[in-house]
Amino acid sequence: MPAADHWNDHYQQGKGFRPVAEAEVELLTEHLGPGTGRWALDLGCGTGEYAAALHGLGFTTTGVDFSEVAVATAQDRHQDRDGLDFQLVDVDRDGLGLLPTGGFDLITCRLFLPFADLVPTIAGARRLLVPGGQLLVTTPLAEHQRAGWESIGLRSASLDLLRSFGWAATVEYPLDDLLCLLLTTHPALQRTRR
Ligand SMILES: C[S@@+](CC[C@H](N)C(=O)[O-])C[C@H]1O[C@@H](n2cnc3c(N)ncnc32)[C@H](O)[C@@H]1O
Repeated sequence: MPAADHWNDHYQQGKGFRPVAEAEVELLTEHLGPGTGRWALDLGCGTGEYAAALHGLGFTTTGVDFSEVAVATAQDRHQDRDGLDFQLVDVDRDGLGLLPTGGFDLITCRLFLPFADLVPTIAGARRLLVPGGQLLVTTPLAEHQRAGWESIGLRSASLDLLRSFGWAATVEYPLDDLLCLLLTTHPALQRTRR
């Protein structure tokens, strides 16, 4: 797995990754519903454009990344926005335990999950979600990458593993050459009077 310095070098050169496309924002708008009054967490947020898009939909949003350069750039670029913040977190080393358990309606992983330890990250993310909360994974597929670049995507075995975490619903949306996987946890059990 590339260390933080690898990513720092990339961001230090002023580079980013795939810009957030209009079609991506439309997908969020259509399938997540209004963000107002809800909390979102973007894992591996880079310089914060996707987190900013979630914030634009009304979500109070936190982005986390382990690249100091990315987090500083994100803080600088989006400093004028209330309800959008960025924190330095190494998801593999520190886990997600410092974030509020059961505190998020939505957790997103855009172009991030292939670089993380899959099972602890998903288990940690689930603990942070409210009942009925959603995890949205946007990723290239390893099998569709050219030779030598497979590691930027998730393998189909990893996708199967992701789907097998006991979600109430799993829905997939293709987005150009990316896959968006929207995974919803079970809602809290309703108490009924007899
Ligand atoms: C391909 S970039 C994607 C950035 C951003 N999500 C985007 O869509 O532009 C992957 C990001 O994951 C971050 N990352 C990789 N491993 C991480 C870890 N263990 N903890 C936190 N962030 C990590 C990198 O620093 C980098 O910003």
